[in-house]
Amino acid sequence: MDGGMNVATREQVLAALIEAQGAVSGEWLARRLGITRNSVWKAIARLREEGYAIEGTTNRGYRLTAGRDPVSAGAIRAFLHTRAFGQEIEVHARIDSTNTRAKALAMQGAPHGTLICAREQASGRGRFGRAFYSPAESGVYMSLILRPQLPAERSVLLTSMTAVAVARAIEHLADVEVKIKWVNDLFIGDRKVCGILCEAGMDFESGQLEYAVVGIGVNTARAAFPAELAAVATSVGNACGSDVSNNRLIAEICNEMEALYPELASGEFMAESRARSNVVGRRVMVARGEERFTATALDIDEQGGLVVRTEAGVETLRSGEVSIRMEEGQ
Ligand code: BTN
Repeated sequence: MDGGMNVATREQVLAALIEAQGAVSGEWLARRLGITRNSVWKAIARLREEGYAIEGTTNRGYRLTAGRDPVSAGAIRAFLHTRAFGQEIEVHARIDSTNTRAKALAMQGAPHGTLICAREQASGRGRFGRAFYSPAESGVYMSLILRPQLPAERSVLLTSMTAVAVARAIEHLADVEVKIKWVNDLFIGDRKVCGILCEAGMDFESGQLEYAVVGIGVNTARAAFPAELAAVATSVGNACGSDVSNNRLIAEICNEMEALYPELASGEFMAESRARSNVVGRRVMVARGEERFTATALDIDEQGGLVVRTEAGVETLRSGEVSIRMEEGQ
């Protein structure tokens, strides 16, 4: 109990409001959740105190202002169907980087599936030391601590698996088609909507990963981007024209990740990864270390490598980055 109000009841009311995506009456909520109207009223009052923007009109009932559900462990849990992923949750109003925090927790022994989320990141990190734009309440900023039985050289499969899982989760909640730009970016149309940053600690004795931190950043809010990103980035909300709940998307990502996880060793999800690729069959610019060259992307192999044809012949990229705009870093 919390101030006379059962926490589970509050979470159920919140989940029902998020799911309803519109106005629902107090009576409907009470009937659906099997509680009294007075309990509904108390739960709404508590949620408002916690910062949830819930409109209430006499005729139409209660409505959670769309896309305005601050990330909270309770609201995420209401949509989780997992046994491990997201069973331990840490939520930060503001943090430097959820990946940095997750790595520290992983080294302290945090269990497989631990989830770290933030409403805002002060120094969100992308690949190759880039910054990841992470303004308050505008996206999903989450990191999962995993302990896969995976040889370090196969770790790119974890990135590919995550890309497929996040693409499925977004499509579950919004009427959009999500493509994968090898190996860690998700696109809607010709703009990036999500970046994935996987970091790992290795056990040198066994050559296996000791832990992996899977960092996922999805732009969700219907909002304008700063000038330098406007031409290359989009958000789920901007692309589908309606708001999505960050809590629901986080939970959905955990659900999809856990469902795909048993396929990590076999890489069965690679067929879907290939089908979702927006680079196969196209001319790309490859950046690998200091090298830059153009190539034609031919295929994605079973280990998640990108097979390309260059002037020198056919080769498989295991690391690096490609861009389809033929300019770097997009
Ligand atoms: C990229 O686009 O290069 C990868 C971006 C990864 C961003 C996510 S947001 C949550 C997690 N915390 C971070 O600092 N980065 C990842």
